[in-house]
Amino acid sequence: MTRETIRVVIYGLGAIGSLIARRALRRKNLEIIGGIEINPEKVGKDLGEVLGLGEKLGAKVVHDKDALDFLMENRPDAVIHSTLTFLDKIYPQLVRCIKARANVVSTAETLAYPWYRYPELATLIDEMAKKYEVTVLGTGVNPGFIFDSLPAFLTSVCVDVKKIHVIRSIDAAKRRFPFQKKYGLGMDPEEFREKLSRGEITAHVGYAESILLIASMIGVELDRVEEGQEPVIADKAMETQYFKIKPGQVCGIRGYGIGYHNGEEFIRLELLAAVGREDYDEIVIEGEPPMKWRNEYGTSGDIATAAMVINMVPRVVRAPPGLLTMKDMQIPSLSLK
Ligand SMILES: NC(=O)c1ccc[n+]([C@@H]2O[C@H](COP(=O)([O-])OP(=O)(O)OC[C@H]3O[C@@H](n4cnc5c(N)ncnc54)[C@H](OP(=O)(O)O)[C@@H]3O)[C@@H](O)[C@H]2O)c1
Repeated sequence: MTRETIRVVIYGLGAIGSLIARRALRRKNLEIIGGIEINPEKVGKDLGEVLGLGEKLGAKVVHDKDALDFLMENRPDAVIHSTLTFLDKIYPQLVRCIKARANVVSTAETLAYPWYRYPELATLIDEMAKKYEVTVLGTGVNPGFIFDSLPAFLTSVCVDVKKIHVIRSIDAAKRRFPFQKKYGLGMDPEEFREKLSRGEITAHVGYAESILLIASMIGVELDRVEEGQEPVIADKAMETQYFKIKPGQVCGIRGYGIGYHNGEEFIRLELLAAVGREDYDEIVIEGEPPMKWRNEYGTSGDIATAAMVINMVPRVVRAPPGLLTMKDMQIPSLSLK
């Protein structure tokens, strides 16, 4: 690339897409040239209005059905994509970006290691990305960092690793509305289980993706992967900015993923996200040398996702074409150029 700035379109201007847009506007290396949405309250407006900036940016927000024309006309270098979680749902959106020869960085959890749940779609995207000479990457805070890239990075000073154990503990009350909603806050436990099994809520998606991402990074063959989540039940009345929770209702989740190697637990990921929980992240590596990494503040999920996506844009623009994962990225860091 000879130009100094990377021209970017934001696909999906919900809680995370809007945060990404606001923070990307402060980066000198990025120029936000438009947005794509389905929400009628956002479509047709200037991006500055949609973001509540009190000024126009001269960047239009268009409807998803006009996305291909918009992308073909404006030819962004990259699309930051933050709409939905599951690859089968976002596949048509990714195809539009690829056909317009735009590189893509997406927050879709299942895109972080798409060969696990969607091997056929992953192959199709990889082939199409190579044909149109663009790069597609799924990333964020988790999957993308806490449960995968960071523990894998820490093993770079180990000569041997017996087990990787990650715990992410989150005060769900501090998270955005879509997070609290998808974690079932305020639901009765039965309703939570039914909605989770029907896919109407998801809680966390990506335990298996993160495990397979670590395994692919460090080169370990896993026998199998398992994952699961259970509601955490409130023992007293609780309230967040968005939900009132009665005793006996869901106030969060406890979830896990396990990757087995030679019949033994090799990777264990645990997520505890409930109202009032302590915020911290901890990674324990049983190996030579052993290691314990801990973030006492907790890695603030929304801003960390925005940061990871923004920081990966220049890398993705420079990366070889294809459907890549965090394994293929140059050591992740703040990326001001
Ligand atoms: N990897 C990570 O670490 C990570 C971290 C945070 C979030 N995420 C994921 O990122 C995604 C966005 O999260 P969020 O909290 O911002 O959710 P959100 O507030 O629901 O935002 C999604 C936005 O995309 C819009 N949208 C849906 N389908 C669209 C389409 N076909 N074309 C254009 N826009 C479309 C939605 O419009 P409507 O509101 O009208 O439906 C909404 O405004 C979710 O899948 C979330 O799970 C991943």
